[in-house]
Amino acid sequence: MTNDYNYMNKKEKYESLLPQIEAVMDKEVDLIANMANMAAMLHETFGFWWTGFYRVQGNELLLGPFQGPLACTRIGYGRGVCGTAWKEQRTVVVEDVEQFPGHIACSSASKSEIVVPVFQNSEIIAVLDIDSDRLRTFDRTDAEFLERMVKFL
Ligand code: SME
Repeated sequence: MTNDYNYMNKKEKYESLLPQIEAVMDKEVDLIANMANMAAMLHETFGFWWTGFYRVQGNELLLGPFQGPLACTRIGYGRGVCGTAWKEQRTVVVEDVEQFPGHIACSSASKSEIVVPVFQNSEIIAVLDIDSDRLRTFDRTDAEFLERMVKFL
């Protein structure tokens, strides 16, 4: 990556990252490979605590490509932030995980979180889950850009 991310604000980072991710995803059709690179690029750029995917497998979400520490492998429909985003078919932004009833704590360092559904032909096939070790990391800007990003998968 050629840009100096240290001097950019969040929106500028996303604007720079978006075409780079599109270019990488354009060259590859494999979903898992693209999830792996998207997680890596987001994680490196923003320095999140945990960045990764859970894929829909039957009636649960199964851990997919990610960057960061060990995570729980299976999440039931409607459970935690991930299962809620899947059930409600929408992006869920959690400013403080302790205030989210049913939050699944894979790590005690996680303080705030965003989960973005990945749609394929109007069906959810996965969710992108990002955890921060700080409170109130995510807002509408993250939601908007991440929703655009997962369309490249
Ligand atoms: N906190 C998530 C579980 C996944 S980990 O954060 C990686 C949840 O409540 O669904």
